[in-house]
Amino acid sequence: MKKGEKVIFGLVGLIAIVSITNQVWQTANITEEDPGIPYYTTASIELKSKAGKLLRENSCKECHKLFFLNNLTQNVPSPSLDGIGSLREEAWFYDYFSAENPQEIIPSRLKARFQMPSFSHLPEEERRVLAAYMASLKVEDWYLEETRKAAYEKRTGEAYQPE
Ligand code: HEC
Repeated sequence: MKKGEKVIFGLVGLIAIVSITNQVWQTANITEEDPGIPYYTTASIELKSKAGKLLRENSCKECHKLFFLNNLTQNVPSPSLDGIGSLREEAWFYDYFSAENPQEIIPSRLKARFQMPSFSHLPEEERRVLAAYMASLKVEDWYLEETRKAAYEKRTGEAYQPE
């Protein structure tokens, strides 16, 4: 082997070692620092299954994201339901679902067909189940402010100013 070749092999070897070490180090760091998924629900199995059925029947996920599930209309700027139960009270959800015109409660900036529909026609029991389930959709404290910001910006289309 010529001297020049040795130098080149040496360099290639060095680069390989440095990059592998770097990757191992980064992976270790990611697993140490990654705090995980911040969204969870406190709902009982019974509430989850009742609510799941209602969410399907009423196509809530056609418009809303929940636990990372999005469908084709994900470009529609509806608020995400992840963590929503840390932002509002159960009674508020019940009133919202019972309103004949939900836009009186949250004004909409969207075209009518993308707006939150009224669910006032649902039986009271179903609106209660939906409200209870919404209230159970929590976010960990460390992600609360971020969730509030995202909800505000979706709703208004304006940058969020913390008080
Ligand atoms: C056609 C799309 C669409 C469907 C279907 C829909 N929503 Fe909505 N929803 C919206 C939009 C858009 C908003 C934001 C207010 C607006 O623009 O009318 C909203 C707002 C909400 C909010 C208030 C969010 C906040 O910022 O506090 C909740 C809770 C909610 N929806 C739950 C549901 C549930 C539960 C269902 C099914 C029973 C449902 N939505 C079905 C579009 C939809």
